[in-house]
Amino acid sequence: MYISLWTISSNTLYLLFAFVLLSVVVLLAETISRRKKFVSSAVSSAPSPPGPRKFPIIGNLNVLDGYEVPYQAFSDLGKKYGQIVKLQLGSVPAVVVNGIENIKEVLITKTNHFDSRPNFQRYHRLFSGNKENSLAFCDWSDLHKLRRDMLTPHTFPKSFSTRFQDLNGIISQHTEHMMTQFSSEPSQTVNIKEYFLKSSANIFNEYFCSKTIDYNDQKLDTFISNFDRIFYEVNQGYAADFMPFLMTFHKNNMQQMDRWSHQVRDIILGQIIGDRLDTYANGMEEKDYLDSLIAHIKEERLPSMSWDTALFALEDILGGHAAVGNFLTIVCKYLIDNPRVQLAIQKEIDETNHNANVITLDDRKSMPYTQAVLMESLRMIASPIVPHVSNQETTINGYHVPEKTLIFLNNYETNMSADLWDEPEQFKPERFLNEQGNLFKPDHFLPFGAGKRSCMGYKFVQFISFSMITNLLKTHTMKSGDYKIQPGSLAVSDLRCPVVLESRV
Ligand code: HEM
Repeated sequence: MYISLWTISSNTLYLLFAFVLLSVVVLLAETISRRKKFVSSAVSSAPSPPGPRKFPIIGNLNVLDGYEVPYQAFSDLGKKYGQIVKLQLGSVPAVVVNGIENIKEVLITKTNHFDSRPNFQRYHRLFSGNKENSLAFCDWSDLHKLRRDMLTPHTFPKSFSTRFQDLNGIISQHTEHMMTQFSSEPSQTVNIKEYFLKSSANIFNEYFCSKTIDYNDQKLDTFISNFDRIFYEVNQGYAADFMPFLMTFHKNNMQQMDRWSHQVRDIILGQIIGDRLDTYANGMEEKDYLDSLIAHIKEERLPSMSWDTALFALEDILGGHAAVGNFLTIVCKYLIDNPRVQLAIQKEIDETNHNANVITLDDRKSMPYTQAVLMESLRMIASPIVPHVSNQETTINGYHVPEKTLIFLNNYETNMSADLWDEPEQFKPERFLNEQGNLFKPDHFLPFGAGKRSCMGYKFVQFISFSMITNLLKTHTMKSGDYKIQPGSLAVSDLRCPVVLESRV
């Protein structure tokens, strides 16, 4: 009896417990859904950002007119309307974001709301009709996450790892080769950009694909010059991006770009990949990035990737050498204009660099001034963060931002504002050193962006630039450079950039 009574009461208890649990779950679900509705209604009822009056067809494109650097227009708009400014650029709704806290809200706090990229026709044309082939201009997707995950161990090799040591050796070897090309004459004029591009190209080719193109092979000239033109092109902004009917005026330019890209593809297939796809056998050790792409395809790993997609990813990353070569050319211009900075680097070289033939990445930690010079060059050139696009209705600093809005992050202002930097127009590497003389990066300095679409190649920029600048200045002083650089652009328009080198001995 006692047992049966207990059985009844325990059953009742279970039922009661289940009922209470269910009620709690239902209540919780309702609260969450009400909260969600509350959040989304808070988003949709947020005020629109202020902005200038728009005109038919062009919208507000007129506000960019007359500025040397378009981003200067964004700073002026910020002063007039506030940090978040709404624009209509032709057919494209856009928002300009000024102020480091707002930029961080887009890149970091709400990185999932802003992980798309602009849908410009030009980007589709540049990547065989589909911008999703590109690493930098695609929208976020499982495929893009995979491409980033596969690249990360290669572009960010861990210190002291075998990969890092391999990269260190490859960079030193090609830097040394570059130095052997310069004569020991007291003075000589060299096309510095070509040297930087060729050496960087072969560093990338060897590290990612275990293959180089002979320095005397005409194909290397085609490889670097075509990539350089493509790099210049993708760094330009056109009215046609916002008014697609103008694309017809770029027809010839686009056809030329197609030709350059095809030539690059042929060289990559012929000179760099060769028979690697055919000779790869499942389970083989993956010796480089190319192997990891081939293994992914041949072993049918998920998410699946086509050989064509893999080729575009490889091409994009090998093309990163153009960013490094152009950046180095810009650094040289700043150094030529600031002889005291060259002298200070040479002092650091002489003090820390013993008698070794080549300065390697292991010397970076004892050469903070040189690293500060590279940071200051990045600050001064203030190349724009690739525009983002909102993938949902959201807010920035409390202002309403509809889905598919183009977002310009004004890092020109955060790099050049007198509120954030002492004498921002001056080239002063010391600003990146703390009182102890150690390298120091202020929080408001984001030359490589941040968040889930941040730059995949910044370590390569830091490593290769360090090696080439220090080894060059170890034996030579740069006296004059007959070429122009343009603040707000990482791309140097000319392939010919003559620099006079004087031997230090
Ligand atoms: C001085 C040279 C360079 C600068 C200033 C630079 C800067 C940037 C910036 C600002 C972004 C956009 C970040 C964002 O949207 O938050 C970016 C994206 C990217 N960078 Fe760089 N970069 C440089 C060199 C390189 C190199 C050498 C490589 C390749 C090895 C590279 C690979 C990429 C890729 C793949 C992306 C797209 C990432 C994505 O959208 O998911 N970059 N870079």
